[in-house]
Amino acid sequence: MKRATYFLSVGLVTAVSLIPISSCAEEEVSHVTVPRTETKEQRDVRMQWWRESRFGMFVHWGLYSGLAGTWKGKPVGERGGMEWIQQRVGADTWEYAHEAVPLFRPKEGFARDWAKLARQAGCRYLVFTTKHHDGFCLFNSEYTTYDAHDLIGRDLCKEIVDATADEGLKVGFYHSVIDWHHPQYDYIAADQLPYPLKGKPSPNGPRNHDIYVDYLHRQARELFSNYGPVDVIWWDYSKKGNEGPFWRANELMAMARSLQPAIISNNRLYHIPHIEKDDSVDRLRTWKPEQGDFTTPEQTIPSTGIGGVDWEVCMTMNTTWGYSEHDHAWKSPETLIRNLVDIVSKGGNYLLNIGPKGDGSVPAESIESMRIIGQWMATNGEAIYGTTASPFERPSWGRYTGKASKLCVHVFDWPADGTLQVPSGELGVTRAYLLADSDRAALKTERTPNALTIHVPRQAPDGIVSVVVVEH
Ligand code: GLC
Repeated sequence: MKRATYFLSVGLVTAVSLIPISSCAEEEVSHVTVPRTETKEQRDVRMQWWRESRFGMFVHWGLYSGLAGTWKGKPVGERGGMEWIQQRVGADTWEYAHEAVPLFRPKEGFARDWAKLARQAGCRYLVFTTKHHDGFCLFNSEYTTYDAHDLIGRDLCKEIVDATADEGLKVGFYHSVIDWHHPQYDYIAADQLPYPLKGKPSPNGPRNHDIYVDYLHRQARELFSNYGPVDVIWWDYSKKGNEGPFWRANELMAMARSLQPAIISNNRLYHIPHIEKDDSVDRLRTWKPEQGDFTTPEQTIPSTGIGGVDWEVCMTMNTTWGYSEHDHAWKSPETLIRNLVDIVSKGGNYLLNIGPKGDGSVPAESIESMRIIGQWMATNGEAIYGTTASPFERPSWGRYTGKASKLCVHVFDWPADGTLQVPSGELGVTRAYLLADSDRAALKTERTPNALTIHVPRQAPDGIVSVVVVEH
């Protein structure tokens, strides 16, 4: 039973730790150990479905979705994350909720539509926002009334989890450790923490970060306990100065693993998400296994991949994660498919975002792109799923992906002279064929000492990416 009234319920946490913030950090390091009994083989088994999937759908959806990038009748901007609209307009949580709650009206069956969209596009998993930075929870939480259950009488998290399972997809929970609703979220304690009223005194006086962190942990326990198997936990996010210990992250990770032994976690409780330059790739390679299973380059594809670790590029279809009616900078389906191929050719996964509207419906542009990706995947999916980075240097005209005894040649620029030159290494070639050819008729090939020439039709079978498989 929830005992608190409307928005103020977040003060509900009962066991208030009085440990000062600084010693909290030390305590975590010395007393909490994350069980790491897993061998490399066991880890490989746990990671297998994720590594093979290669393609997932991200969903950013919450109160901001109904606002759609408009605040009190005015567009907030045409670019950038409108899930941050509360921060962009500098609204406190009450004003924000006052504007946003009436516009958040999920229609029946929205989750089924998302899950179908994902499956038909060829995604193997779906990760959605259980709570974004605004603090509004799609799940039913005992510890707040700022959740879908209290505001609209539905457990939206359950609806999404069920729909995802019905479509045979794995499910992931995005969960923000940043929280602009909780009155003890101590944005003053760490310079890097965003907060819509930053720079102004706290509206409710001094804040006790430990109370917020207890709340964060209790809600995480709810998420890991109340919705069946959770395949991925996608934390968001830490920055220098407030990473790891600030959230008692080791404990959170240990809890996730004990309640969901097979769970796969990103490393954003400990690491800065963005990589803007390739020289930071080295830094991204350095996290410890207990800090997460994969790293998350955001809106950018590392030019040579991130060798030796698991990674997943998350990316928007326009420039916002949460829906905006003003953002028309849509990437073309061609870009999206080529991004997928590029990422997979370097050994990564692609988590491609949709930002549904306040009623849960998906923007038409996203539906159309997903449909085209799905068509492409229906023909060429075997050159994506279960493939790994190619050992060969990427050609200027396309990409390679590899899988046991197959080299998949993804051709972006179809050769005008009807021949493709691919490195053959030491491998003996048995057969080459086009995935777009349902008969898989053998293409004529010729070997030179270091290369293989494949004779292909003059006309590209696919206007976006045509795939030739070389069996060896
Ligand atoms: C960022 C943003 C956020 C978005 C996310 C997705 O860190 O704060 O709005 O949810 O990354 O990667």
